[in-house]
Amino acid sequence: MKKKPKQQTVFSEKEIGEATKEGAITKQYLADPLLIVSSLNRLRSTEITSYLQYKQHAYMAVSLLSPGLKTEFEAHALQELEHADILANRIQQLGGVPVFDLQELAGKAASIGVYPEQGTTLLEMVRENLMLERRQVEAYSALIREIGDKDLVTRQLLLDILQTTEQHASELADFLKRSSETRG
Ligand SMILES: [Fe+2]
Ligand SMILES: [Fe+2]
Repeated sequence: MKKKPKQQTVFSEKEIGEATKEGAITKQYLADPLLIVSSLNRLRSTEITSYLQYKQHAYMAVSLLSPGLKTEFEAHALQELEHADILANRIQQLGGVPVFDLQELAGKAASIGVYPEQGTTLLEMVRENLMLERRQVEAYSALIREIGDKDLVTRQLLLDILQTTEQHASELADFLKRSSETRG
């Protein structure tokens, strides 16, 4: 009977220890994970603000004039929450902790110019949402450029979120164009 070759340990204990500590971060990860985590937490705080704002607008959008708008606010709210989840998972992967303190969240969102707003008319709400989405488009675009090819997965995640964010902004702008045509 052939003797089974003795199993060779390819990796040293030290290497395995480092790999366990670093997880997905290898030497090909060229960004500073701490900086990325902090930027992702800032963007995530705008997603949570956006979620709350859309939900609030959906609760308050009872006008008979645009019944579709309530549904659209609801749909956007859910997508904002998905964005917050995607960012939280990436923050965790990079060894960070998603910010959880409400005041800290508000402060971080405000640092990008995002504040929860609640207009009294549907038109005001749509405008507020459009402005929020546009702030996010700017912030995401800037971070994607800054990351370049240093953190490929974060870049991809941010691009995906940016795509939806631009779509939201464009839908809201279309609504405002349509409503100004009807009024004019
Ligand atoms: Fe979003
Ligand atoms: Fe959005």
